Amino acid sequence: MNFNYLNKVVLITGGGLGIGRAASLLFAEHGAKVVIADLNEKNAQETVGLIKEKGGEACYFIADIAEKEQVEALFKAVLEKCGRIDVLVNNAGIYYQGNAVETPVDVWDKIMAVNLKGAYLCSREVIPVMEKQGGGVIINVSSEAGLVGIKGQVAYNVSKAGLIGLTRSMAVDHAPIIRVNCLCPGTSATPLVEASIRKEKDPAGAKMNLEQVRPMKRLGTPEEQAMAILFLASEEIAYATGAILSVDGGYTAQ
Ligand SMILES: NC(=O)c1ccc[n+]([C@@H]2O[C@H](COP(=O)([O-])OP(=O)(O)OC[C@H]3O[C@@H](n4cnc5c(N)ncnc54)[C@H](O)[C@@H]3O)[C@@H](O)[C@H]2O)c1
Repeated sequence: MNFNYLNKVVLITGGGLGIGRAASLLFAEHGAKVVIADLNEKNAQETVGLIKEKGGEACYFIADIAEKEQVEALFKAVLEKCGRIDVLVNNAGIYYQGNAVETPVDVWDKIMAVNLKGAYLCSREVIPVMEKQGGGVIINVSSEAGLVGIKGQVAYNVSKAGLIGLTRSMAVDHAPIIRVNCLCPGTSATPLVEASIRKEKDPAGAKMNLEQVRPMKRLGTPEEQAMAILFLASEEIAYATGAILSVDGGYTAQ
């Protein structure tokens, strides 16, 4: 399949690392002008450097997507620089381990603010832009945890389930001009996932446990998730809106 993103402006939140970095590289390989919005300047700079090394076009802006004023300033700056936004990937997200009793209220609020409110804040900035342009696509990066109740991570699960609801609501509200789709990745071997496995008492055992609970008996890769994002945003699948795609090694099919 020949995905063509030539001259398309693709804004990826959390593009500095992990799945967001892989998606940034892949969109750039397919001709897109990639804009990364991230909190971490070093990571964002590195991703932009990797894209430019391969002859691609990219830039970054520092913003906390949980903060309304920063999001408004981000979109103003991106539009001033690029003139349009064809694809928004709401990818930035954070994780916390704890059940309802263990999760402090301020942590609950923070998880919701980044994972769910952040996607809403970015979407409400981009929707009028895409409507004016006559088209655009929003991809929300949820999780397998949005589809099932994974033990001991209640705030994360709820925030990711919320993103599925946000996808469906915005898809209905803004069709036919804007398409809104959602990716539900399964645990993928991003640097942070690998680092958290290394911190376990028995890293090899912890990794094997994560692998063995999946029919595919392995973790995903950031590149596989990036390909799913590229596909969901592409014109090749222009009839898909409100779609929720699991790329989780069969975890939620069980
Ligand atoms: N890696 C996995 O196994 C996995 C599985 C399911 C879902 N996901 C989801 O995929 C997305 C990407 O995950 P990842 O593992 O690549 O993450 P990561 O932690 O490797 O990278 C996340 C990026 O988002 C940025 N970020 C965090 N908070 C931000 C904020 N408030 N504003 C702007 N940027 C912010 C970070 O600086 C970082 O560059 C997340 O939404 C995550 O929940 C990941």
